[in-house]
Amino acid sequence: MIADELGRADDVERVLIDEKVIEKRLDAMAEEIDREFPSGPILAIVLLKGAFVFAADLLRRIPRPLDIECLNVSSYHGGTESSGVVKFLDHSLPDVKGRHVLVLDDILDTGRTLKAVTDRLLLEGCAAVHTGVLLAKDRPRAEDVQADYVGFEIGDEFVVGYGLDYRGRYRNLPFVGVLKS
Ligand code: XMP
Repeated sequence: MIADELGRADDVERVLIDEKVIEKRLDAMAEEIDREFPSGPILAIVLLKGAFVFAADLLRRIPRPLDIECLNVSSYHGGTESSGVVKFLDHSLPDVKGRHVLVLDDILDTGRTLKAVTDRLLLEGCAAVHTGVLLAKDRPRAEDVQADYVGFEIGDEFVVGYGLDYRGRYRNLPFVGVLKS
């Protein structure tokens, strides 16, 4: 599907990663996770809202028992710049005690989100936190954090599509793209 068919060609300046390339990369990531993850069921924690498309496509490629939970966290609050504050929007966290957890986020930017979530899950008593992101921005991190599984390294620019939004829109684009400024 192309941007024209979605009626949003006017907003998208260029496609950065198209659907086919994402699919191929997810095949490889799923294989890597399945190979490297300790045996037994994986507890996947999907960070909402941005990671829901990525997680749905990735987790369906992993051929072993999975428990899936979601965590609602927010750091952008609608714009194109991180607010610097990671908010946990849920009243309670999933039970992670003694579990090996795979946290999935859409994009690693400043690193604050993955750091805050990892710290919180370790505090809750999980055995280990493994992290996977579809995208990692090539920029200095505010926190000393990296993801164990990275789909694509990208430049330091604001992207939308495949779960990522600008003011709530564009999450349903099947590709990752850059908006016109
Ligand atoms: P941090 O800075 O905590 O960022 O590593 C992670 C969260 O920030 C959001 N984010 C973006 N959202 N386009 C988006 O639509 C972007 O280019 C972008 N960069 C960061 C995202 O919610 C992510 O989970």
